[in-house]
Amino acid sequence: ISLKSYNTFGIDVTASHFVSVSNVEELKHILSLKEYSNKLVLGGGSNMLLTQNFNGLVIHINLKGIEIVSETEDSVLIKAAAGENWHEFVLWCINNNFGGLENLSLIPGNVGTTPIQNIGAYGVEIKDTFESCDAISIENLVIETFKKEDCQFDYRNSIFKNEAKGKYIITNVIFKLSKQNHKLYINYGTIASELEAMNINEPTIQDISKAVIAIRESKLPNPKIIGNSGSFFKNPVVSKVHYNKLLENFNDIPSYPVSDNDVKIPAGWLIEKAGFKGKRFGDYGVHKNQALVLVNYGNAKGSDILNLSVLIQETIKRLFDIYIEAEVNIL
Ligand code: EPU
Repeated sequence: ISLKSYNTFGIDVTASHFVSVSNVEELKHILSLKEYSNKLVLGGGSNMLLTQNFNGLVIHINLKGIEIVSETEDSVLIKAAAGENWHEFVLWCINNNFGGLENLSLIPGNVGTTPIQNIGAYGVEIKDTFESCDAISIENLVIETFKKEDCQFDYRNSIFKNEAKGKYIITNVIFKLSKQNHKLYINYGTIASELEAMNINEPTIQDISKAVIAIRESKLPNPKIIGNSGSFFKNPVVSKVHYNKLLENFNDIPSYPVSDNDVKIPAGWLIEKAGFKGKRFGDYGVHKNQALVLVNYGNAKGSDILNLSVLIQETIKRLFDIYIEAEVNIL
């Protein structure tokens, strides 16, 4: 079976065996099957680059359901199954006036993969509202609960990218959202100016969601039209010493403080400065509005995109002496 419609990059590789599971019992059964030693778990396929055909069993996580676990006057705990589409879940929350996820509108992928890389945008990360998640151990099929403290959340990082990598499948996530007095995050530059352009002075969570959607639609390619995986690279952290040295040659290099000694530099700026923004090589290239995003215009191979990413990494290393790490999982 072709995996083209199961990865947002739209890479046309095949899997020798494929199953889509819609409940946890089914998932346990599939995991217990001994005849498939090679298994690949697929959620929304929004953060992976497939570079070759897969000889083994692809397990597509199609668990569905959203439920209110408990609530008080101020807040609500909501459990969403791993296979729920992330953006549809965010809209469901916003329509119910549950606050906390509005800045994370329109991010591709499914609920179950959001904790893995602690998705974030416009000043908010999943860890800010994450309460816990259930995950099934691939080794012994026991379901374990990971509380926020257990997850070791960091910038685009969690335990699921480290010690727990490849050992668990997240089956649902519980978020703690606000019912009133929503805490709004509108300081991230582009949001403030978008709200201003919309003539909104006292934004609601609905307004913020609309502003985020407008910004994302103007900068980021829609994966349904142009294959992509969002940011291909993480924004690198460099020492202030290194940054100050770079300033001598590049006086417009942006940065955000991360600690007393380090700053974060937008990889998109480095890639743009290196001349890659909007560059197209046949069926693949670098997006014209956001240099951090690599795109598949049609029939690109995963290896084409991988090679381009390596060329970009080498160029950035040469020009700025900075290594930019891929954010996307390469398979
Ligand atoms: N910039 C450029 N050229 C570009 C892109 C960016 O110069 O082509 C510079 C500009 O100085 C701009 C700054 O980078 O002011 C920041 O750009 P932007 O607000 O678009 O954010 P980003 O750092 O490029 C990060 C996340 C995005 C997230 C946005 C908004 C990472 C790796 N990426 O991008 O996340 O949507 O912030 O919060 O942290 C994703 O992870 O898939 C993703 C899209």
